[in-house]
Amino acid sequence: MKTIIEPFKIKMVEPIRLTTRDQREELLEAAKYNPFLLRAEDVIIDLLTDSGTSAMSSDAWAAMMRGDESYAGARSWYRFRDTVQDIFGFDQVLPTHQGRAAEHILFSIMVQPDSIVPNNTHFDTTRANIEFCGGNAKDLPCREAGDLDSEYPFKGNMDTAALETLLAEVGAEHVPIIMVTITNNSGGGQPVSMANIREISRIARSAGIPFYIDACRFAENAQFIKRHEAGYEDTPTIEIAREIFSYADGCTMSAKKDAFANIGGFLCTNDAELAQQERNILILTEGFPTYGGLAGRDLEAIAVGLREVLDENYLDYRLLSTRYVVERLRDLGIPVVVPAGGHAVYLDARRFLPHVEPLQYPGQALVAELYLEAGIRSVEIGTVMFGADSHTGEERPARVELVRLAIPRRVYTQSHMDYVLEAINLVWERRDEIGGMRIVKAPRFLRHFTAEFERT
Ligand SMILES: Cc1ncc(COP(=O)(O)O)c(C=O)c1O
Repeated sequence: MKTIIEPFKIKMVEPIRLTTRDQREELLEAAKYNPFLLRAEDVIIDLLTDSGTSAMSSDAWAAMMRGDESYAGARSWYRFRDTVQDIFGFDQVLPTHQGRAAEHILFSIMVQPDSIVPNNTHFDTTRANIEFCGGNAKDLPCREAGDLDSEYPFKGNMDTAALETLLAEVGAEHVPIIMVTITNNSGGGQPVSMANIREISRIARSAGIPFYIDACRFAENAQFIKRHEAGYEDTPTIEIAREIFSYADGCTMSAKKDAFANIGGFLCTNDAELAQQERNILILTEGFPTYGGLAGRDLEAIAVGLREVLDENYLDYRLLSTRYVVERLRDLGIPVVVPAGGHAVYLDARRFLPHVEPLQYPGQALVAELYLEAGIRSVEIGTVMFGADSHTGEERPARVELVRLAIPRRVYTQSHMDYVLEAINLVWERRDEIGGMRIVKAPRFLRHFTAEFERT
């Protein structure tokens, strides 16, 4: 069969409030042209993020009823820990309330003021947490990542030659940790190949530097390896996931992505001594080490979600349904990052609005138009997100100007996606009339969340 079907039935629904264009004009102006500042009920299709927005299964909801809310040593903790250990393979597991808490604990121990932390591309919270500790977050995307039209199947890869050059230049003593983000969210949601992960691990081990994986979308990445990397066609996806983590010394994870959970995360390592230091901070900032900022019911939901996400029928549907949107956009001639990533569609705002200068934020302008056209909420990944130096406040154009349409897991159907496609095309047809934006107010760190804009 060619038709992609959602491999689940809908048992419970939430109504969507439909708004008019005039209402949206008023709402967006009141939100200072920043969709993060809109009320969710004023959004028709919410593609702001795939984080914490998934639909949980009947099994996960049932497991939540079994949540053991004991302060210490709850049954739910052991179920959670055993599942994480089984899939990720690390000895030490620290639950956190979400991914950035894991990052903060890890970096506050590992990163010093002169530290450099390489990654294929740091996600915004990862970068901000490193910079908050005084370190320098260094992106080393592979060459193909810069070519938004390249069909290379693993555009999330790290440039490992650049990693070796960096280590030779700055000295391994200044690099306390090497990371890779799977899939590469800020680099277009593109996967990282097993060969690349193996090579980063080899370089890290020979330099004596711990290698960590930002594992948020590990299952989607593993399925890309299964479908596109020679030698893995017949390997069960769970085995591919286990192999990925076997090359690493630890991971940070946001369970709000590939665990279908609405909240949660964890930090893993094989280093018992480091884990002890991390637990000391965990107790200070998150909670006792057997719940770490989560309710027992959340631990249960994550344990179920981590198994469900490795269902290969689900993963094939997930990758194919994202590809469906990307291919239709390409047929319409609309600039979009190819090949399709797993969790999101990325419009190339630089080519969508070539007449808007980077420091007039073409991505933010496109985000505003998608909302005005059809109530679609998306996010800029460009100069607003990455253009300001948090040490000096200086602004420079980002490497790419993208608009991310993140697709929540199991939430929207194909007809919702057809509506999104129609809206993007309507904006495309009137692109010449769209102008830029200016920032009126912005904080120093993670400015895209709360910055206020006006039209130029
Ligand atoms: C690649 C990546 N790393 C880290 C995080 C942070 O996770 P959380 O939002 O749970 O703090 C995210 C969240 O979007 C992410 O996409």
